Amino acid sequence: MTTSTIAQNASVTSQPYGTTADGQSVEEYILTNANGVEVRIITYGGIITSVQVPDRDGFRANINLGFNNLADYETKSPYFGCIAGRYANRIANAEFTLDGKKYTLAANDGPNSLHGGNVGFDKQVWQASPVEGNGEVGVALRYLSPDGEEGYPGNLDVKVVYTLTADNGLRIDYTATTDAPTVVNLTNHAYWNLMGEGQGAIYDHILWLDADRYTPVNETLIPTGELAPVEGTPFDFRIPKPLAPGQRSNHEQIVFARGYDHNFVLNRAEGDTSVKLAARMYEPTCGRYLEVWTDQPGLQVYAGNFLNGTLVGASGRIYRQSDAFALETQHFPDSPNQPNFPSTVLRPGETYQTTTIYKFGVA
Ligand code: GLA
Repeated sequence: MTTSTIAQNASVTSQPYGTTADGQSVEEYILTNANGVEVRIITYGGIITSVQVPDRDGFRANINLGFNNLADYETKSPYFGCIAGRYANRIANAEFTLDGKKYTLAANDGPNSLHGGNVGFDKQVWQASPVEGNGEVGVALRYLSPDGEEGYPGNLDVKVVYTLTADNGLRIDYTATTDAPTVVNLTNHAYWNLMGEGQGAIYDHILWLDADRYTPVNETLIPTGELAPVEGTPFDFRIPKPLAPGQRSNHEQIVFARGYDHNFVLNRAEGDTSVKLAARMYEPTCGRYLEVWTDQPGLQVYAGNFLNGTLVGASGRIYRQSDAFALETQHFPDSPNQPNFPSTVLRPGETYQTTTIYKFGVA
């Protein structure tokens, strides 16, 4: 185990986590700060495996769903805690056209391509190194995605830095460059339960979103292209409200997705690229909240609709439907095929650069 401790009692530690089925060593990085927050990240998939945060009474719990061993992550993970890419979320009919050339991807979600295809960034072992400075600690992860991998053009050099801040933020800085035109959409796919993983459904969690519009989808969860107002629908979280009523609504969009699994259009003035507060989830019993700060145009709100009791989580409890929520910052789904959505094209000479912060607290 290598440990380093810096000012204000923040530390970054690494230790072996396991070996993949094809023989690659995987390391675990443990980040801690002075307030008792501890985040664990493994180099396989850049997966966040555990986030321990105090509740209102100072009682710590792991609020991040995951497994307690590498084999489960390799064989059955529904994208727990991972870096999703090269294109997070869905691309319709597993194909897109760029500069007049058609690219074919793996159809791994019905007719569509989901989260980068069969072997996305969530299943790669990333190169890692510890990061320290300004009273903060982190881990820098790097992955070189070769030209043609999963059907995507261009060698993509990807860097993702996870930093635990002194004010209880888990900041994620993504950068990527390419040597040929391609499409990029990166996110983290952490599943959260503010009561603690395995502690039951998230129905009583209260959500606030800074979104006047969302992107309605068809039956296969591909956006229709419309930016629809949330007003008068279960998608209106502009005033905080519990997830339960909407999650069980008979609204056609909720029925299509078996609950919330939709991209929201974050409110943002034209040209504003700042990192700003986009969402806040609060659990009134324990008092924990999770804020999402981002510079991205969209936020996928997913309520664990596909968890079905077949996975046993880190602490030995099964995960059932709606036992977690995910707030995935990103560009809109299927942007490569939707000319009216903000572009996800990256060209040589440009740098893809985005930041998201998950900020933990109690109220
Ligand atoms: C995203 C998708 C969901 C589901 C999960 C992974 O959140 O939008 O439909 O596929 O990933 O299970």
